[in-house]
Amino acid sequence: MLQEISWEQAIKLASPYPYVLALTVDKQGKPNAIGLGWWTYVSWDPPMIAIAVGPQRYSYECLDHCGEFTLCFPAQDQWRGAWHCGTTSGRGRDKLAEAGFQLLPAKQVKPPLLAGAKVCYECRVEKRLPAGDHELFIARVVAIHGDPTPGRHLYSIGYEKLTAISPDELEILG
Ligand SMILES: Cc1cc2nc3c(=O)[nH]c(=O)nc-3n(C[C@H](O)[C@H](O)[C@H](O)COP(=O)(O)O)c2cc1C
Repeated sequence: MLQEISWEQAIKLASPYPYVLALTVDKQGKPNAIGLGWWTYVSWDPPMIAIAVGPQRYSYECLDHCGEFTLCFPAQDQWRGAWHCGTTSGRGRDKLAEAGFQLLPAKQVKPPLLAGAKVCYECRVEKRLPAGDHELFIARVVAIHGDPTPGRHLYSIGYEKLTAISPDELEILG
């Protein structure tokens, strides 16, 4: 039965949410990654994606500087590194190396792709929109990469824990 609940309770109840990494490069060209729950597709044609990034994040500075990112869906076996990227700042440290991630060059943008990911979008920022305590970076998708072999990718539960789901193993209702 519906009852009025808090924001925190609703966030947990409405879980899980796809958990992704946005890879950027800083002023020195060093790649960094941020764990994101707040991303969405916003346009089909042309394909566009928006991400919400807090101004205190190092990734905000990197986005400000390079105006591009890759949005990568880590595979299940990458969960520890992916969690590290969502819980530690890359300011003054090489988070991607600490996470043990291998990187691949992107086709159209400066930030790299996450090797081993299930899907990676190459994105170029076209618009920015401050929204409360985050800022939306609205970007055009300029190249797409994917691994079509079956496998799970990551979801967060209440932004506190991770799980993994594969589209091949879900119960189909409609
Ligand atoms: C499950 C989860 C979801 C998150 N989603 C976002 C998000 O959508 N936007 C954001 O700005 N930070 C988000 N964060 C927090 C950042 O990933 C975290 O602050 C990170 O350390 C920032 O790294 P940076 O300083 O290297 O950019 C999330 C963290 C977790 C664990």
